[in-house]
Amino acid sequence: MNDVEDRVNTLLGQMTLEEKIGQLNQPMIHGLPGLDLLRQGKAGSIINAFGALSGQGFDHLNSAEQCNALQRAALESRLGIPLLFGRDIIHGQRTVFPIPLAQAAGFNPSLVEQINQIAAREASALGIRWTFAPMLDIARDARWGRIAEGYGEDPLLTSRMAAAAVRGFQGDDVSQPDRLVACAKHYVGYGAAEGGRDYEQAEISEPTLRDVYFPPFRAAVAAGVGTIMSAFLDLNGMPATANRRLLTDVLRNEWGFDGFVVSDWESVGELVQHGIAEDRAHAAALALRAGVDMDMVSGAYLETLAENVRCGRVTLAEIDEAVRRILRIKCRAGLFEHPLTDPERAIHDILTPKARELARQAASETMVLLKNERHLLPLRDFRRILVAGPFVYATGELFGTWTMDGRAGDAVPLDQAFQAIAPAGTDLWFAAAPDLALSRAHYADAVVLLVGEHPARSGENANVSDLGLPPGQLEWITAMAAIGKPVVLVVFAGRPLAITRAVAQAQAVIYAWHPGLEGAAALAEILFGLATPTGRLPVSMPRTTGQAPLYYAHKPSGRPLEADGPFRTRYVDMPTAPLFPFGYGLSYTSFSYSDLRLSSAHMRGTLEISALITNTGERTGSEVVQLYVRDLVGSLTRPVRELKDFQRITLQPGEARRVSFILREEDLTFTRADGSWGVEPGRFKVWIAPHAEAGLEGEFIL
Ligand code: NOJ
Repeated sequence: MNDVEDRVNTLLGQMTLEEKIGQLNQPMIHGLPGLDLLRQGKAGSIINAFGALSGQGFDHLNSAEQCNALQRAALESRLGIPLLFGRDIIHGQRTVFPIPLAQAAGFNPSLVEQINQIAAREASALGIRWTFAPMLDIARDARWGRIAEGYGEDPLLTSRMAAAAVRGFQGDDVSQPDRLVACAKHYVGYGAAEGGRDYEQAEISEPTLRDVYFPPFRAAVAAGVGTIMSAFLDLNGMPATANRRLLTDVLRNEWGFDGFVVSDWESVGELVQHGIAEDRAHAAALALRAGVDMDMVSGAYLETLAENVRCGRVTLAEIDEAVRRILRIKCRAGLFEHPLTDPERAIHDILTPKARELARQAASETMVLLKNERHLLPLRDFRRILVAGPFVYATGELFGTWTMDGRAGDAVPLDQAFQAIAPAGTDLWFAAAPDLALSRAHYADAVVLLVGEHPARSGENANVSDLGLPPGQLEWITAMAAIGKPVVLVVFAGRPLAITRAVAQAQAVIYAWHPGLEGAAALAEILFGLATPTGRLPVSMPRTTGQAPLYYAHKPSGRPLEADGPFRTRYVDMPTAPLFPFGYGLSYTSFSYSDLRLSSAHMRGTLEISALITNTGERTGSEVVQLYVRDLVGSLTRPVRELKDFQRITLQPGEARRVSFILREEDLTFTRADGSWGVEPGRFKVWIAPHAEAGLEGEFIL
């Protein structure tokens, strides 16, 4: 550690102002015209390295060599400070895993860690050493397209995934050449964009910011995340990229973060558009002084900081501090020792059988069975099965948003996966066109309908005003259901869609998200019973668009929904409750919950809460056992339930296991009416539950 600080200080002592400002600049460079810039030490990092945007392609074989060429130019600069190559490695690199929202449905942090370890190995083989992930924005409005990129609506679940993702990318020692520096983004409140419109402002109260939106970032900092990205949004009137309170007072002074902050794409320059900066020089000064160390792409730092220093708008000490943080992370990443990447690695480290196997496991663990009337699934004893819908021949459509490096050709198409996995003797018919599908349905014994969103319909700036299925799909489902054959609906999506009517018309429903390159095989295994569904919803599923924002941990209101009678918090035209609650998901077996026990009626430091979970069905299956708490009286209103812990267990048929949780006093802390953070003594309810709307209920006193 001291070696790092010594090296950083020595370098700082040797740098000119121009070289320092160069370290704060992150341009996007395509090809070699940028080499002079690098030789002059005018960039600290390169974004995306090559083939920046989705669909532009990425030459895996020579990427490392191209990064090395850029790196050599940087090493030729006066002080030879290496570049940090950054790229969005969001849910895998070449091996595309399920989207992060789907990963959250696994309720399995270890899976997220393993996924990102593989992503790190693949990306680093190409010369990339920094990923702009994980995205930790709590998302409670499914219209927002970026809900796909995060871990859903819940702070505890997102915090667990945050820590796991950081461990996966960075490992114990981020200087190892197969690791990536992680970047927790988008700090903070970005998921609360008004109306679900990306880049829009948000108004979030201080207690909600602290209790809901901060925890995942805090967890990432505690896990040692190297970098943080400031969000695009205007939060309570102060754009996050100019927000000194968030970036310095909270992030550094309260949480002790010592890595560096990068702005989001051009968001330094955009302070002018936000209307809080006169011009780019003013914008650069505001961002730097707030605590943004590196300027992603806008160029405003490079252009204006020297003059800002000369005219006294920014101090040299402020520049030095930003440079120090960036050099610190470069040292920790081992860039000074290993600036170049061995191009041979790409041959061995990418798309390995082990990576594919993990991708299949991840897809399988994260699909959610929402409905299964009369045990229609797994499909047995159906001789002729019609597989229909717009996704029948899907490959790359299974990847989801932000898969710049995935290749459709790596994915086995759904129809082929079905052929390979269906039991011998099953006649599978495929139809992507509605009229063909309808004509065949009459002769089929069962229908599997594959519907949902194209990946372009979620992700950055891919918001929708209507959470229903894309045009035409509901009509298709209705027409198919009218034929009277058993219908299994499979929904691919980057968000929780409002599929109330579709669900009512199908006998079984699987929510498959965007499951990645092994998604087709994983789905076929679930449909034909080679695997049992185990995913649980990391978001509440809406009945209708008008319910957004929707989340289980809402406040009680003076007219609680649960009570009977008129004048309650509700809609006239729709039940207020979600279609399926947070944490919900079925299995091919069933579980019973019994015998809730609390180690004491009073919590003194900790409390043990346990229940007996029994597999009451006939198959082995996994259950995600969830612990919820409600603080019954607070100096500020408290959510009706909050997830405090969860455990994923696997039980054999008939097996019973006592699942036990230790609740600590610090799990009950919140932001109190006087702004302080702590617990308040009193009564608490506690549940051990299969989802947010059920469970065995107990009570204790703190
Ligand atoms: C803009 C996005 O908001 C951010 O998430 C991403 O990391 C950067 N672009 C870089 O591609």
